[in-house]
This record gives sequence, structure tokens and C-alpha cells, in this order.
Amino acid sequence: MRKPMVAGNWKMHKTQEEGLALVRAIRAGLSSHGKVEVLVAPPFTAIQVVVGEVADTEIKVGGQNVYCENQGAFTGEISPVMLKAAGCSHAIIGHSERRHVFGETGDLLHRKVHAALNAGLDVIYCLGETLEEREGGQTEAVVERQLNEVLDGDVKPARMILAYEPVWAIGTGRNATPEQAQAVHAFLRAKTTGIWGPNAAGNLRILYGGSVKPDNAASLMICPDVDGALVGGACLKAESFLAIVGAAADSV
Ligand code: PGA
Repeated sequence: MRKPMVAGNWKMHKTQEEGLALVRAIRAGLSSHGKVEVLVAPPFTAIQVVVGEVADTEIKVGGQNVYCENQGAFTGEISPVMLKAAGCSHAIIGHSERRHVFGETGDLLHRKVHAALNAGLDVIYCLGETLEEREGGQTEAVVERQLNEVLDGDVKPARMILAYEPVWAIGTGRNATPEQAQAVHAFLRAKTTGIWGPNAAGNLRILYGGSVKPDNAASLMICPDVDGALVGGACLKAESFLAIVGAAADSV
């Protein structure tokens, strides 16, 4: 049985003070009774205060991005060992904003995934098609390519979480329907079954992301292959984030 995960991607929001207030409110209101794995991904500058606040809870902390080297002359980058040492358990890799705004390539993402895993971080690997690709009937081909970009024999399924995030649904208020999400999640489950076998792929969590809100979360979470959510806008307020966590808990 897969334990759902609800992960909040704060993106470039929240100072240390604001982040502390948010995570305190999440902590105070959390009542999923361990049914849901809850993760927050603050900006790098707020990681330390957030880690301090959740240290005695089950709330996990992740990086929104990570570089593929552990140290060196890479101005402006943060390494996997730095994230790990700062108290992060996970790194989000391949978010569509990294791919499309910052031009990250499959080759770079492959190296990032391996570096993160080697440093002991679990990986939330994002993938998803643009509107043009969906309308061109290329959704499956695109997510399969994005999956193959990072997977090889060294990538252990137990340390990977996938997040299907159709680019056209991110930050647009336009979420995929449960049927659209389920179809792609089932496709990813089938593809990973081919790579890792039915047991490992059966245990793999595949999150949905893209305009998940309290009012659509329940209908997405009940889809058999949707194992939680990667939440952007709605994670910036404790109330809406906790409502999504609640919907995930109710789906178990
Ligand atoms: P959104 O963002 O919930 O604001 O659409 C999701 C994401 O980018 O992970």
C-alpha cells in the first residue's frame, strides 16, 4: 500500500520569518495521523529555520532544486551534500520551471538525480507535457522521454517519487481532470513496471501537480494511481495546504 505524499513547493515565496510562521501553522494544524507523508520545500534561505521548527515532527523538508556536483566553482548553486547537511531529506528535480524558464536539459537532470541519490537525498522527479504537446497527441511520448532521461540501472525505485505536472496546469488554475491525471499516472506506472518490475513500480509514488486546490484535491486523490500531490500556489497558506493533506488522508 502506497502512503500518499503531499509536498508543498513554496517556489520563490516566503522570507525566513514568513516561512517560519507558515510551517508553524502547518505543524499546529496537521492531523493526518501519519496517513500522509507531508513535505515542505522552502526557498534555500528558509530551509534552516524550517528544519529547526519541524525537527521533532514527521514533516519532511526538501530542496526545490539542487546542483549535480557536491562542491566547486559553481556560483549560485547549492549542492546535494549541502541540502542533506541542512536537514533536507528530498530534492525536487526537473520542475517545469527549471526546464522551461531556466533551460535545464535531460542530460543535466540525469546528473542531478544521480548526485542527489548519491548524497542520500530522495528525489521527487517532475515531468509533464506542454499544452502544445498535449494538443499534438504527444503526452505519453514526452513523459516517457523525460522518464528515460533520468532512469538507468543505478536509480533505485525506493528512493524515487515521480510528480506528473502538466505544464499547462501549473499556476494557471486549470487542473488536469482526474481522468487525464489517472491516464498519465497509469501510463507511468506501466512504464516503470517495465523497468523495475511490478513490485517496485507498485510501490512507487506518483504525485499529481498543477493547480491542486482544496476543492479539487479529493477527486484527484481517489484516482487509483494518484498517490498525492505536489502543490504550488495552495501551499502558501496553511489552511489550504492542510485541506489538501486532509483530502489525501481521506483517500487512504
Ligand atoms: P501550482 O504549482 O499548484 O501553483 O499549479 C504546482 C507546481 O508547480 O509544483
